[in-house]
Amino acid sequence: MDLTNRVAIVTGAGRGIGRGIAIVMARNGASVAVADVNQDDARGVAAEISDMGRESLQVRVDVTAQGEVEAMTASVLDRFGRIDALVNNAGIISAPGWEERERHSEEDWDMLYAVNVKGVARATESVLPHMRERRYGKIVNIASIAGRIGSTTSGPYSVSKAGVINYTQSTALEQAAFSINVNAVCPGLLWTPLWRRIAVRHGAIRGEDKGLSAREVFDKYIQERIPMGREQTPEDIGNAVAFLASDAARNITGQALNVSGGSHLN
Ligand SMILES: NC(=O)c1ccc[n+]([C@@H]2O[C@H](COP(=O)([O-])OP(=O)(O)OC[C@H]3O[C@@H](n4cnc5c(N)ncnc54)[C@H](O)[C@@H]3O)[C@@H](O)[C@H]2O)c1
Repeated sequence: MDLTNRVAIVTGAGRGIGRGIAIVMARNGASVAVADVNQDDARGVAAEISDMGRESLQVRVDVTAQGEVEAMTASVLDRFGRIDALVNNAGIISAPGWEERERHSEEDWDMLYAVNVKGVARATESVLPHMRERRYGKIVNIASIAGRIGSTTSGPYSVSKAGVINYTQSTALEQAAFSINVNAVCPGLLWTPLWRRIAVRHGAIRGEDKGLSAREVFDKYIQERIPMGREQTPEDIGNAVAFLASDAARNITGQALNVSGGSHLN
């Protein structure tokens, strides 16, 4: 997974999976733009990467805001002169307050579409002119195993992630002639602030999980749904992303790779 002298943008890199991806890519040689709506978190991760002896840039971006996404791309080009890889990781499970709601609200649907689907497309569109000109680029979208099959508890989120997988396929076909690889990674179950919200909701609302602590809900899910019986880590996802962003994956495009301990086989 050689990423020496490669320049990568990772959105949502201030914590959780995005932080793991940024660190693994830097470890493999990349310079990384740590882009997040939370500036303090992004600053911390950018400092970690600098401490590793790699170049980093902290960028504030809300992927739902066209102007901020364009500014992100411009600042990375200004600093590094090129963008080799874009990792669209920023994502949400739902709108604020979803943990206490039995049914999804209209705001849940709107925010999921704005961040998880349009956010991915917006950031991709902002780097494509540059990548097409160079006839080189790697785009990796973070989807989810939730995008593989319907869900009784987080339907709108599943819809958004199915959208990411489909967008990955369409963009891969569109950009293939420009030697731009577009792939997705579908993480399984990771104990991040995002999954904590799912677990809190289940503990509060779902009959069979009622009364369990958030971590107990998560551990139950691992045992019930992951054949390998263990949770995934941000580093696991980072390793898959680093591979897809490297030239070792030059003939892989339009694919969605499950990193989920065998939970889904499609
Ligand atoms: N945790 C899991 O088990 C899991 C499983 C499958 C897929 N995923 C996906 O992985 C990605 C990361 O998830 P996570 O668990 O690390 O979540 P997280 O909530 O821990 O981190 C998400 C990061 O994205 C940033 N972010 C949110 N909205 C943003 C916006 N509009 N613009 C810019 N940055 C924004 C947040 O500030 C945060 O730093 C998401 O796309 C998520 O859907 C997570």
